[in-house]
Amino acid sequence: MNNEKLIADAAVFVRTSMTGEGSHDWFHIERVWKMSRHLAQAEGGDPLIIELAALLHDLDDWKIRPEHDSASKARAWMVSECLEKSTIDHVQEIIEDLSFKGAGVPTPMKSLEGKIVQDADRLDAMGAIGIARAFAYGGSRHRALHDPAQAPTAHSSFAQYKQNAGPTLNHFYEKLFLLRDLMNTATARAIADSRHTFMQTYVSRFLSEWDAADISEIHDQEENP
Ligand code: NI
Repeated sequence: MNNEKLIADAAVFVRTSMTGEGSHDWFHIERVWKMSRHLAQAEGGDPLIIELAALLHDLDDWKIRPEHDSASKARAWMVSECLEKSTIDHVQEIIEDLSFKGAGVPTPMKSLEGKIVQDADRLDAMGAIGIARAFAYGGSRHRALHDPAQAPTAHSSFAQYKQNAGPTLNHFYEKLFLLRDLMNTATARAIADSRHTFMQTYVSRFLSEWDAADISEIHDQEENP
């Protein structure tokens, strides 16, 4: 089977398998797939490995299916397509190494292909889309938007990070603001810079509205035009 047909089949399989809410649905996969191809154009790497890992990376995600920690569903599909063992092993390794496991838990990627897909996945957690996904995920877990009494935590183990049930605004400090400096490739870092700045602006505006500080700003403008 040629690679183009294989990738198209993978896309169909994943589209029909993704059952997560807005933060982890087919459109997340599609964006990560597209971004991975964009990064690969500038950074290189084996396109087949990159596209398969991008497409299959969230099939067994622990956030969606906490009972799965490994890439078993992705592996089963690749085996059923009779892919070479080296391809299957490489894609599975990327999927297992990929996810963010807490502020103090390093997750180094072993290959350029892995670095690219990890960057693409992390870029989708940043910027306007990243903000929307964070609140969609928090909402699906009935979390508060923000709670000034609960300080963010720098999780030092994956087990601790998985237990986290804090308000969604803390997620910016516990993960989203850390992503820019974790980018593997220069191409992704440039995109991350702009998405990072947008999130900072958003959070500072959020906190200002939380305390209705924006109202006093409007009053000030009315009194001192
Ligand atoms: Ni993902």
